[in-house]
Amino acid sequence: MRVLSWIVFVWMAASAPGFGKDLELAVKTAKTAPILNPLDAAWNAAPGVVVPMMPQTIAPPGGGGKALSARVKAIQTEHEILFRVDWQDASVDDYPSKAENFTDAVALEFPAVLSDWPSPFMGDAETPVVIWRWSASAQKDLDAGYQSNSSKRPRMAADMYAYAGDATFRAAEKAGNIIANRRRISPVENLAAKGFGTLTVMHDQPVQGKGVRHKDRWYVVFRRSVTGTPAFLSGNRIPIALAVWDGGSRERNGIKSVSSWHSLALADAGPRPAEDAVASGRRHYLRYGCGTCHGPEGRGGVANPNAQTNPIPALERVKEGFTKDEIAKVIQDGREPARKDPNGPPPPYKMNAWKSIMDASESDALIEYLFSLMKEDAGSEW
Ligand code: HEC
Repeated sequence: MRVLSWIVFVWMAASAPGFGKDLELAVKTAKTAPILNPLDAAWNAAPGVVVPMMPQTIAPPGGGGKALSARVKAIQTEHEILFRVDWQDASVDDYPSKAENFTDAVALEFPAVLSDWPSPFMGDAETPVVIWRWSASAQKDLDAGYQSNSSKRPRMAADMYAYAGDATFRAAEKAGNIIANRRRISPVENLAAKGFGTLTVMHDQPVQGKGVRHKDRWYVVFRRSVTGTPAFLSGNRIPIALAVWDGGSRERNGIKSVSSWHSLALADAGPRPAEDAVASGRRHYLRYGCGTCHGPEGRGGVANPNAQTNPIPALERVKEGFTKDEIAKVIQDGREPARKDPNGPPPPYKMNAWKSIMDASESDALIEYLFSLMKEDAGSEW
């Protein structure tokens, strides 16, 4: 009996939703690409990974986190790559007709160029990221015709809406805002970013897509040529990250579920190179975007107004001030910075609790890496 409950406990711990790992999404190669239909049988044979997610609390205003995980699969032919993402969402939210309504959506993120891991949180100045964003409302526009106020409310009467039939007076559409585009060809927007608040719609819109509901889940396919930005070239392993918005929980913009970077292993990528604890810790430091706040190689962080420790502390010398267990606790449970002026505003950045998406082996490797940053002999030549 005891043994059984122990086995059940271990099994539950290993399969608990949101328990993180450095995942590898192996792309399935195929002669021909499946059609856009997300429920096409071709997807059954593709291996998938379940990516854990957490609320976006890195950049204010944050929050969200309704979706705890999403499953991703990928299929590659000679010329094309397709991704399918599915996740649980209790309600269909596809018509943001009022200011307080928001659409369900999902986004895939990749570095724009093949290099080291950029910040997973919208990239950074050196390495921009590419974001493919599907939304349920754009899908509805495509499936059922452009959802304007008058198509939703055919009996609506407007007194002062002169010229509405004339495209010249639809300013957002005229300015090329693809959200206002009535002749949308894809429910997926191709976006780019290089840091918070820099999200831009790209001139090229090469990503096709389709999303459908099945039971209580969304299934969304993205499809693009293997050439382009980024290039999905055989033999490579490139970072991939996810975000999901639950419109019904009023999630939008930075209020969403996010993942850290995981690896997309393209055809013939081969096995992952072996690495020691310090090298794997360095990789996790990049995958989780620790450097976004603490600086590259832990050399010192960004400004955090009204925090007692401002800017955000460097991590090079944590070996002096903390035991491994103490650091593990800060990483797993997070820490709210104390305010310098108790009556002032809360500091914009806090140390996140990572335990819902990071596993203990990653946290251990991270600590080995942080300890390796301290150069014990610095200045010894004096
Ligand atoms: C959103 C910004 C942000 C991110 C991302 C972040 N941290 Fe922090 N971290 C902070 C802040 C702010 C503090 C200071 C908290 C305080 O003042 O109590 C902190 C404190 C710490 C400390 C304690 C150091 C000290 O001197 O007090 C450690 C260790 C740490 N972070 C490690 C990490 C690791 C490892 C990662 C990546 C998994 C990470 N942090 C990601 C903001 C961040």
